[in-house]
Amino acid sequence: MSSNVRPESMARITTPELANAFIEEQVAEVRAQVGDKKVLLALSGGVDSSVVAALLIKAIGKQLVCVHVNHGLMRKGESEQVIEVFGKALDANLIYIDATDRFLDLLKDVSDPETKRKIIGNEFIKVFDEESAKLEGISFLAQGTIYPDILESDGVKAHHNVGGLPEDMEMELVEPVKLLFKDEVRVVGEALGLPHAMVYRQPFPGPGLGVRCLGAITRDRLHALREADAILREEFDNCGLAEKVWQYFIAVPDFKSVGVRDGKRYEGWPAIIRAVNTTDAMTATIEEIPYSVLHHITDRITHEVEGINRVLLDLTPKPIGTIEWE
Ligand code: XMP
Repeated sequence: MSSNVRPESMARITTPELANAFIEEQVAEVRAQVGDKKVLLALSGGVDSSVVAALLIKAIGKQLVCVHVNHGLMRKGESEQVIEVFGKALDANLIYIDATDRFLDLLKDVSDPETKRKIIGNEFIKVFDEESAKLEGISFLAQGTIYPDILESDGVKAHHNVGGLPEDMEMELVEPVKLLFKDEVRVVGEALGLPHAMVYRQPFPGPGLGVRCLGAITRDRLHALREADAILREEFDNCGLAEKVWQYFIAVPDFKSVGVRDGKRYEGWPAIIRAVNTTDAMTATIEEIPYSVLHHITDRITHEVEGINRVLLDLTPKPIGTIEWE
């Protein structure tokens, strides 16, 4: 199991029983690898790092140090959930860093999407580096590498790895789920008792809402985006679309249009709904959302979210549109 090649013969983990057997095996392996040393993990709250955290907490408890960096571009409630699940319920050794101001100050007036990505990626490494330098006696670095990451490590997805860590960090790696596919990681996560919503979280880009708050990010527009996105997610949960649609979110562009509210002129940004289905994210089709649901979401967003005065629906498949707007 130690090579980077997944043996053809390896059985897929599809049931809680198989997941439990995998967990037992990994717990023993991790204990043997780590001994009484300490392990560091960047815990983003995504599926892979969350499952690795839960697995390592089971194996080595407080020898695991989790660092969660909130870059201020998380969806509503996500950092809070990390604190709730790992800091409280699992009683992990969790260091929470709210670096919102650092990121948003650096991103001020930056509108080019690739520059925004670079700033977010570099700053993430810097913050993580600074925090890990304060810790003593860390011998291992845990990572939520999964099998497709190994298959794709030809550079194509390099930009996806915000949370990728400094290369000069010389620590031995602990990668307990590196031979698993995503669906297997999820089965293992559920067997470890992680909340369903965390384990079945839809894909979320490392730079987070930074790629959906189009153009130069401002705090007020970012806030509007986060609130509108939370409403979309809530309504998709309510009508069963959350279980069905692969990825859905709101993007908010940096221009306003004229509207009217309470009899007065009301300039606001549009909120763009994107809801797509795909198997590999290379191509994507559009989910057909019932008009009644769209009307209800529009009504809620335009009434509840300060600064939004229109709701639009993106009907563009990939190609020609990418999934994210950037
Ligand atoms: P695009 O926009 O290229 O996105 O069609 C394809 C899928 O990749 C996700 N995405 C990311 N995932 N880190 C990630 O982990 C990233 O930086 C990143 N950027 C895009 C996107 O959400 C979609 O699911």
